[in-house]
Amino acid sequence: MTEATAYAPANIALSKYWGKRDKALNLPCNGSLSISLGELGTTTTVREAETNQLRLNGNLLSPDSGFARKVWAFVDFFQPDRTQSLLIETTNTIPTAAGLASSASGFAALTLALNTFFARQYSERDLSILARQGSGSACRSLWHGFVLWQKGERVDGLDSYATPMASDWRDLRIAVIDVNTATKKTASRDGMNHTARTSPLFSRWTAQAERDLSTISQAIESRDFQTLGETAEANAMMMHATMFAARPALCYWQEESLTALRHVWQLREEGLMIYATMDAGPNVKLLFQAEDQSNIRAQFPDALQINPFQDGPASF
Ligand code: PMV
Repeated sequence: MTEATAYAPANIALSKYWGKRDKALNLPCNGSLSISLGELGTTTTVREAETNQLRLNGNLLSPDSGFARKVWAFVDFFQPDRTQSLLIETTNTIPTAAGLASSASGFAALTLALNTFFARQYSERDLSILARQGSGSACRSLWHGFVLWQKGERVDGLDSYATPMASDWRDLRIAVIDVNTATKKTASRDGMNHTARTSPLFSRWTAQAERDLSTISQAIESRDFQTLGETAEANAMMMHATMFAARPALCYWQEESLTALRHVWQLREEGLMIYATMDAGPNVKLLFQAEDQSNIRAQFPDALQINPFQDGPASF
């Protein structure tokens, strides 16, 4: 194979991963469950080249950059002897303004492209295990739709991988409110390690996260939007509360994040079925149903609306 291209969607966790039991292997302290974002994601092409080169959204990256180091270390999983030089071109279809992390879709697309390029024919399970080692949440970005990452028990991580859930919830909608921020965010890796090490709430968080995961799985099976939304929002709030309790406190929120949350809570009091979730950044993501789409557009005109099941839940 002289060239291989793959696409992977970004994902948002409804029940979150925050805390590693093994930092080198990205093994989580609790399981998590996400929804993939359809056509918002990453396309990656791997081709033969004279020297190793990495392009991100058209720009050549210095081999010394942190991201490039992570990428080349990841390529070693597929080519430990480094005999073949490669050009890796990675392009995000996530609008920068959406402020969504691209590391999950980036490592998932890279895993799939390398698997084809080196004709490895790894199983989906092995691909998820590999992607996890690039970025934990990348193990969930190999599929569209709902994806469950079981935490596993083994020290080698061979039982810690994701699987797609058979559900096609076409009425489900997501929107992203981009909260502008000039402050530098703490990388999720550093943030979760700090939280796990210093927050007295951490063990409560991991226990509750496992319960939330099971509640959300059941809500997906029974198409119970209220339970899904309530649990996803509570899960995100508890994850952030656990960070607030870290010493020193870790806070990804901006003033606008709280303003957006209060707006959501007010609308809910008025009877609108809308719920919020947040990740390792200030942006607020909304969960709602198709019937409320125009209402949500009127309330949050700048939010990017996403229909995650637009083209049906395809698998790769
Ligand atoms: O996979 P990472 O290291 O980017 O961490 C992801 C952490 C959260 O986005 C906050 C939660 C999650 O489960 O995706």
